[in-house]
Amino acid sequence: MSNEKNVLVLGGTVFLSQTIAEHAVKRGHRVTVASRGASGEPPEGAEFVKIDRSTGEGLDALRGRRFDAVFDVARIPALVGPVLDALAEATAHWSFISTISVYKHFDKMSDELHDPTAPDSADPALEAYGASKVACENLVRERLGDKAFITRPGLIVGPGDRNDRLGYWPLRFAEGGEVLAPGPRERPVQWIDVDDYAAFLLDAADTGESGTVDAIGQQKAFGAFVDEVGDALVEHGVIKETPEVTWVPQEFLLEQGVNPWSGPDSLGMWVPTPDYDGFQTRPTDPAVAAGFKASPLSDTVKRWWDANAEAPQLKAGLTRQKEGEVLAAWHGRPVGEGLADLDAQRPFAVPQAETPAYDG
Ligand SMILES: NC(=O)c1ccc[n+]([C@@H]2O[C@H](COP(=O)([O-])OP(=O)(O)OC[C@H]3O[C@@H](n4cnc5c(N)ncnc54)[C@H](OP(=O)(O)O)[C@@H]3O)[C@@H](O)[C@H]2O)c1
Repeated sequence: MSNEKNVLVLGGTVFLSQTIAEHAVKRGHRVTVASRGASGEPPEGAEFVKIDRSTGEGLDALRGRRFDAVFDVARIPALVGPVLDALAEATAHWSFISTISVYKHFDKMSDELHDPTAPDSADPALEAYGASKVACENLVRERLGDKAFITRPGLIVGPGDRNDRLGYWPLRFAEGGEVLAPGPRERPVQWIDVDDYAAFLLDAADTGESGTVDAIGQQKAFGAFVDEVGDALVEHGVIKETPEVTWVPQEFLLEQGVNPWSGPDSLGMWVPTPDYDGFQTRPTDPAVAAGFKASPLSDTVKRWWDANAEAPQLKAGLTRQKEGEVLAAWHGRPVGEGLADLDAQRPFAVPQAETPAYDG
């Protein structure tokens, strides 16, 4: 957007929506951040408007205002309809952040969507997440038409991520010693950098982008991902060399109580196969065609490190003790028993879509 646009970020107190607001402030826009103020702080330079989307009068502070661009991260249709009633008419461009969880099948590439929940559903259950986002998307599309831009991210990573899926790896490497990784190296992994995503959404509002696209930043084999995290830390002077990495098959990890995704006892960014093969291989081209530019992974890692360097502390992931136990069990498994590495026999195909380098 050119300077001095009137931007509203619904949310703005945590991770992605906070990053969108920060970037908007840096670009010189007049930025309003509207939320309850319960999850965190709005960025410096933004006007904070206290709202509560779950009550009828909770939106009064926004009524009658006009915006050039609105960004919304809501997950629940009952919180989306009333905001549209209050602001859709008076907004030039509406960016809704959805998710690839809207797709019904995770085990294969398919564009079939979940059946939406009711448009006034207030169900906060995680099991309803995909169906709720479909309903939210529909509400936005119905009200905004070609003024709506709907993006569906997969795993979002970078500074401020409360799940710290990516953060597990730099912190783990910095600790040294033998590192446990989810085999095989060819396992696909995909993500979008939070700063790249925020820049993309602001650019899209500027150019009046409309429609619905997946917001996948990059895809790599897990082995290349881990190597590049190590190389970035060496380049950044955090470690002298990447520690030894031991790739252990998924079946063994699951048997030992190591979790995929994120949270306690997890290996961050590991998404289980074959149940989620489709989740790790969504196309990157639609976002690129809409103007997305990906930072090199090394930049994401360095930015994450710098944001956490003062008090590096894992918010999620495997403890060193648990990791040591699993590695000991792996190295001590009976010879000849040779747990079949089913992963290694899978014909992984990581799409090699070109993503242009981020040019600032
Ligand atoms: N993280 C991932 O890897 C991932 C993957 C796929 C998709 N996504 C999507 O990406 C987006 C992430 O958004 P985010 O990082 O900004 O986190 P978020 O947790 O979705 O943030 C929600 C925001 O809404 C505000 N809010 C919640 N309830 C409210 C209410 N009743 N009234 C007013 N405001 C309310 C919160 O602030 P207060 O609590 O201060 O009110 C917060 O700022 C979401 O749309 C998510 O579905 C994330």
